[in-house]
Amino acid sequence: MKIYLIIFHLTLFLFGFIFVEHHLRTPDRAAASRQSLMTDNSGIAARLAAVGQIGTAQAQSTSTPTQVAATETAATETTVDGQKVYQASCIACHGAGIAGAPMVGNAAAWASRIEAGADSLYSNAINGFQGSSGMMPGKGGNASLSDDEVKAAVDYMVTQSQ
Ligand code: HEC
Repeated sequence: MKIYLIIFHLTLFLFGFIFVEHHLRTPDRAAASRQSLMTDNSGIAARLAAVGQIGTAQAQSTSTPTQVAATETAATETTVDGQKVYQASCIACHGAGIAGAPMVGNAAAWASRIEAGADSLYSNAINGFQGSSGMMPGKGGNASLSDDEVKAAVDYMVTQSQ
């Protein structure tokens, strides 16, 4: 009987020892696997870096006006995607020719407009206008769009409608 008690207590002690040992080293192992994730080619480091850049841009935009302008110009130059703007703000009317809007892809509906020139299209799209077929709201009704975003959307619509 006594021998079982001894074995039982030894086992208990061994288990306790392994348990404590294991958890004592957990922080080291977490750091080690984090390090290997950052340095292998899983792309995690790159994704973390991108988040860091956005943070930097926001930090800059709260500092000085000149920096804000520089950041925003850089952002529009690199990120304006006419197709995305079109899909977000213009497709509601221009996708199917709703409310008299010239339908994207319908060359006949666009020919005379394109003939008038890009500047006329840009300013009508940015400022809005009442034409013979309907009312085009300025910036498609999305005042938060920059002029460059609207122009990029117009360019996209024109290339799809020639
Ligand atoms: C609420 C519906 C509506 C939305 C949203 C809309 N448009 Fe229009 N758009 C119109 C209508 C209607 C016309 C035609 C007006 C006319 O010629 O009578 C038009 C015409 C145009 C023209 C032709 C201008 C010209 O000189 O003939 C362009 C370019 C244009 N839209 C760009 C855009 C862009 C870019 C967006 C998104 C940012 C957009 N539209 C969103 C209704 C819309």
